[in-house]
Amino acid sequence: MTILGIETSCDDTALALYSEAQGILAEVIGSQAAQHTLYGGVVPEIAARDHLKQLLPLLTRLLHDAEFKLSDLTGIAYTAGPGLLGAVMVGAAFARALAFALAIPAIGIHHIEGHLLSPMLESIHPSFPFVALIVSGGHTLLVNVEAIGKYQLLGQSLDDAAGEAFDKSAKLMGLDYPGGPEIELRARQGRPRFSFSRPMVNRPGFDFSFSGLKTQVANTWASSDKSSQTIADISYALQETISDTLLIKARRALEAVGGKRLVLVGGVSANQVIRARLSDGLAQAGYKVYFPALRHSTDNAAMIAYAGAKRLKAGQYDKDLLITARARWSLVDLVPL
Ligand code: KG4
Ligand code: ZN
Repeated sequence: MTILGIETSCDDTALALYSEAQGILAEVIGSQAAQHTLYGGVVPEIAARDHLKQLLPLLTRLLHDAEFKLSDLTGIAYTAGPGLLGAVMVGAAFARALAFALAIPAIGIHHIEGHLLSPMLESIHPSFPFVALIVSGGHTLLVNVEAIGKYQLLGQSLDDAAGEAFDKSAKLMGLDYPGGPEIELRARQGRPRFSFSRPMVNRPGFDFSFSGLKTQVANTWASSDKSSQTIADISYALQETISDTLLIKARRALEAVGGKRLVLVGGVSANQVIRARLSDGLAQAGYKVYFPALRHSTDNAAMIAYAGAKRLKAGQYDKDLLITARARWSLVDLVPL
């Protein structure tokens, strides 16, 4: 079984070929970051138009890299949401039409389910059940994962996602989009000069809130000199606060559900300090932490192809020719395999 995965929910046009027997055969990605940097964030209309431009050339490259023929595909998995609606629609229409032409199944995948399963592509991967901490540009979620499709939402961000706190703080200090990698880079030169309060850690439960942190960054920036050392010191404090907050909430969730394993996924899980803080902090408490490969922390199509393979094998695919694209879609509405 070989599945073509297509991901277009935000600003990355990504395609991957996943074989059940051999794993990932090839993957290609066209980043639009340079175009969105001009505006300090993703412009939905530009994202959708660029996916349209990039999809066919990227597909041609993918097939060439893998020396693979379209006629050998078993199915096509695509991100059906949640995400920027226009961007999702381009990928969904492309995937559904191609599957129709090849007379093979199309499988609409939930983007967050893709992230949540991304560590399964690694040779050392978790077994079920596990707790998933999903930290991306649009979501911060703690989910109890019993099996594929059996998701219990434990907590989520009540306002900004962790990635948004990185992106908005970076923008404020004049750094490029996406802000996360920029903040991580600057924080390496940072000193422990500022300290921000950790949002919501003294309240019970598993919810997050990161918009107050952005305000703390804004106030500190406004009252400081605008040197590169100040940028480094604020970046350091921001990264520390987010790392600690994620660790505290993840440990609390593991304790509450009696879990043993945590998977840390989504764009923010590419951050080395956050990875180390969670794996060290949770190892001390007897838990094991799993991550995707770095290139699968941020948006990618391998995770979509993998989720598609699992769902197709269970007989779950788009049974009609309606094209599904959703801006909002709750993870808990998914059905088990
Ligand atoms: O999962 P993702 O690629 O897209 C969404 O589904 O949102 O996550 C993108 C987010 C952005 O907010 C970006 O700034 C953040 O992940 N990010 C990082 C790092 N790399 C990407 N945040 C912190 N440190 C990083 N190294
Ligand atoms: Zn994502």
